[in-house]
Amino acid sequence: GNKNINAKLVLLGDVGAGKSSLVLRFVKGQFVEFQESTIGAAFFSQTVAVNDATVKFEIWDTAGQERYHSLAPMYYRGAAAAIIVYDITNQASFERAKKWVQELQSQGNPNMVTALAGNKADLLDARKVTSEATNKYAQENGLFFMETSAKTASNVNDIFYEIAKRLPRA
Ligand code: GTP
Ligand code: MG
Repeated sequence: GNKNINAKLVLLGDVGAGKSSLVLRFVKGQFVEFQESTIGAAFFSQTVAVNDATVKFEIWDTAGQERYHSLAPMYYRGAAAAIIVYDITNQASFERAKKWVQELQSQGNPNMVTALAGNKADLLDARKVTSEATNKYAQENGLFFMETSAKTASNVNDIFYEIAKRLPRA
């Protein structure tokens, strides 16, 4: 039969990587060029239907600014899923993403479904992080990886859908 699943999901990643923009695209189908930097964290919810289940995501969009780092465990503790976001045009944001992967591997829920989102995939001319490098890293670390664009909507619904498919069925 059809199952209803509630899943806490947290977005983590560097300042300006596009966490809020991905959520705004997924939840409201919108994009804004001048998205304000998140203070603390923001909460959203959205439902996705997969074959055998309806998944209600309870989404925590965290702030990337370093001064909020100590708050992050409140949001990833007990989370069923995480999306770690970097900006493909910014190598430092990829390095920051790897730090988040390490932190989740050491402190997070071991069964967490973790996705890596290489965002701003529309800015191909400014690319600094190759998809080959990230693919290799993602495979080695048991993550799944997609390049996304909150601006064009490319792969945005898809990444949430892929997470929904991978969640354990109670
Ligand atoms: P913090 O809240 O400070 O941690 O940042 P954030 O990760 O939430 O980033 P945010 O969504 O605020 O996006 C930062 C800037 O990047 C904004 O000006 C967005 O318009 C822009 N942006 C986000 N996603 C994309 C994208 O896919 N493509 C392009 N071209 N710009 C994007
Ligand atoms: Mg934000």
